[in-house]
Amino acid sequence: MPVALVTGGSAGLGHALVHTLSDRGWTVVTDGRDPERLAAAVGGLAAVVPVSGDVADPAHLGALAREVAWLGRLDLLVHNASSLGPLPLRPLRETSTDELLDTWRVNAAAPVALTRAVLPQLRTASGVVVSLSSDAAVEHHETWGAYGAGKAALDHLTLTLAAEEGLTGYAVDPGDMRTAMHQDAFPGEDISDRPLPATVVPHLLALLAARPPSGRYRAASFAGVPA
Ligand SMILES: NC(=O)c1ccc[n+]([C@@H]2O[C@H](COP(=O)([O-])OP(=O)(O)OC[C@H]3O[C@@H](n4cnc5c(N)ncnc54)[C@H](OP(=O)(O)O)[C@@H]3O)[C@@H](O)[C@H]2O)c1
Repeated sequence: MPVALVTGGSAGLGHALVHTLSDRGWTVVTDGRDPERLAAAVGGLAAVVPVSGDVADPAHLGALAREVAWLGRLDLLVHNASSLGPLPLRPLRETSTDELLDTWRVNAAAPVALTRAVLPQLRTASGVVVSLSSDAAVEHHETWGAYGAGKAALDHLTLTLAAEEGLTGYAVDPGDMRTAMHQDAFPGEDISDRPLPATVVPHLLALLAARPPSGRYRAASFAGVPA
């Protein structure tokens, strides 16, 4: 049975992906900071191992790595859990250094630490690393600096790790999705025209099936491609 580790599986895109992988017979380790929400979201799914905690906490990353070590292989590592940074989104001149570092710890440093911790199991399975990026990693929107810089770093770190370790790595922009994170970024706005995260999952699976060279991709480029 293939094994995946998907961070942030209790809501949004992570939740939709965990559901689909479980339906397809994968064993999935996943997390989220709120233990009750995580249990409610994935408790009924087959072969899903919930480990609640914050990816910014090294002890939690150790707990995730122990689950993966016990399973013995890792076919897919998805860095999905993410922070927008201080809310409401604000210009960099109003963002403290500690707020920047907290955002980058979740969005960039934690994925590196987690990848490092599960390298043996990724190697065993010739596994793939997917990091959920954003258009904010390559475009420069007012008030998106802390988040966007974290995503730019995430892209760079994911693809450098892939090159250094001989892994396949993808930084994937999923596009706008109707999720809590998106609503947090646009408080009070009607976001009902944004696609649901479940619509992006087939694009991610099509990317994995096509297995192009490591690089940065837009999920929408895989629309209509068989998964
Ligand atoms: N939504 C969009 O329009 C959009 C656009 C471009 C890129 N993205 C990217 O797509 C990915 C998924 O976003 P989403 O909109 O699906 O997010 P979401 O709906 O806010 O869900 C985030 C998930 O991650 C968990 N999480 C958040 N911080 C965590 C932490 N520090 N440690 C562990 N788990 C944590 C949350 O649970 P807890 O809160 O309980 O921890 C939740 O399960 C993110 O990487 C995001 O940057 C989203």
